[in-house]
Amino acid sequence: MTRAIDSLDKLLAPVDPAKPQGAVWLVGAGPGDVELLTVKALRLLQRAEVVVYDRLVSEAVMAEVPESALCIDVGKQPGQHGLKQAQINKLLVDLARSGRNVIRLKGGDPFIFGRGGEEMVSLQAAGIRCEVVPGITAAVGCAAASGIPLTHRDCAQSLRLITGHGRRGEPQLDAAALSAVNQTLVFYMGLSWSASISAQLQAQGRDPETPVAIIEKGTRPDQRVLITTLGGLAETVARDQPVSPSLLVVGEVVRFYRADLQVRSGKPVSRCAVQERSA
Ligand SMILES: C[S@@+](CC[C@H](N)C(=O)[O-])C[C@H]1O[C@@H](n2cnc3c(N)ncnc32)[C@H](O)[C@@H]1O
Repeated sequence: MTRAIDSLDKLLAPVDPAKPQGAVWLVGAGPGDVELLTVKALRLLQRAEVVVYDRLVSEAVMAEVPESALCIDVGKQPGQHGLKQAQINKLLVDLARSGRNVIRLKGGDPFIFGRGGEEMVSLQAAGIRCEVVPGITAAVGCAAASGIPLTHRDCAQSLRLITGHGRRGEPQLDAAALSAVNQTLVFYMGLSWSASISAQLQAQGRDPETPVAIIEKGTRPDQRVLITTLGGLAETVARDQPVSPSLLVVGEVVRFYRADLQVRSGKPVSRCAVQERSA
């Protein structure tokens, strides 16, 4: 997948001093399924000149980038360090100043736990044109791909997207606010802190029988959904060892999950069969 370039210096050398400054598109790549890209994102990718991308961008999405494009992987593996955010900000500014039009491709939506806001502000401060193209965020994509409605009139009147990873590691949740019933909680980056999340919510009175879904690699061909409860979460994670990227969905809506009635993307077989029969 990595089509890294040999030398950034070469890339950053001004192509032509008379060439105007480039622009940056902050583009959401969605949760993985290439068919969940927006039309705008797909069009931009298919004519990309330079793509600066993250670890969460799927291979299927990267396959849409032309061979001729320069692709720079600035992703961080969990526990390792890729480029620091300040270095990424500088890279985007330098590329645009050297006349490049840059696609900054981020998993999901650039403005949901994606630090897209920081990159936009840095580009604006440098006087560089920047456009944001939204993407389907992981909560929305994973919920759809596993048949879990995030809201439902009967049991979930609100939805919260929460980072399960604090600035210094363990999250300090506003557990009292999160413990109210009739709301769905979706934790991003919460896998390594699932025991703590579970304990904090239960300490504030959230029922240990509250259903929880762990959605691993949502929308991708190897998606896996693990159903458990708040009280059983730590044990499920220890036993089934879900890997990154995974989301935690907490709330009564998880009861709608039906493993036996999943339709795989792009294959609405049963619907066609019904239409044929009734014709
Ligand atoms: C740094 S956040 C980026 C979120 C992204 N900007 C978005 O809008 O989805 C990374 C976290 O998103 C979640 N995530 C992203 N893609 C996912 C996927 N395909 N399946 C499950 N979780 C995913 C995981 O919790 C992962 O740790």
